[in-house]
Amino acid sequence: MRHPEFPIDSQFLDRWSPRGFDPHFKLSEAEIDSILEAARWAPSCANEQPWIFYREKDAASRPLFLSFLTEGNQYWVKHASHIIIVCAHKTFAATGKPNKYYAYDTGAAWLSMALQARHMGYYAHCMGGIEEGVIAEKLGIDTNAVEILSAIAIGKHGENAHLHDRHRAQEKPNTRKPQREFVYKL
Ligand SMILES: Cc1cc2nc3c(=O)[nH]c(=O)nc-3n(C[C@H](O)[C@H](O)[C@H](O)COP(=O)(O)O)c2cc1C
Repeated sequence: MRHPEFPIDSQFLDRWSPRGFDPHFKLSEAEIDSILEAARWAPSCANEQPWIFYREKDAASRPLFLSFLTEGNQYWVKHASHIIIVCAHKTFAATGKPNKYYAYDTGAAWLSMALQARHMGYYAHCMGGIEEGVIAEKLGIDTNAVEILSAIAIGKHGENAHLHDRHRAQEKPNTRKPQREFVYKL
């Protein structure tokens, strides 16, 4: 179990990143819409909303989206209900000037999705283990203008039988550093 150092709402402790997704469960399109809607309402610098999401249209999209992941992620993500690729515009649309906060803001959007998924009884697992070159080529992304940031697997937590031993051992909520290691009271 996760033990907070100080009292917090249970939603922050209930969210974690499983790999053992239920291969028989599919979220509805409306449920994915709602999870992405949570991202839409994330705060961003100057309300730029720099994020871009690519989502699977139907079952025929699955081979393409799996090809966007490293092999170490593919083997467990293939059981997840949905895969989303997360990108962000690097510059402000109005001025073309660099947006220092694009990743910061898109991270806020990712967490909003993860908490919304959990609120609906599902889990979202973010991955940096992606094939950026494959994503850029197959989606026609200009990486000078757009950063390819991550992938997200979403689904229902299921059985762990298909997981590699190392991942099966990690299939539980983990812990955190104590606040004294990263909070400075001056
Ligand atoms: C940006 C980012 C990249 C990650 N990359 C991977 C990944 O490629 N594969 C994986 O299995 N988990 C990945 N994770 C999951 C992290 O390992 C996990 O969030 C972290 O250990 C904290 O655990 P928790 O989410 O269960 O609280 C990633 C998470 C983030 C936020």
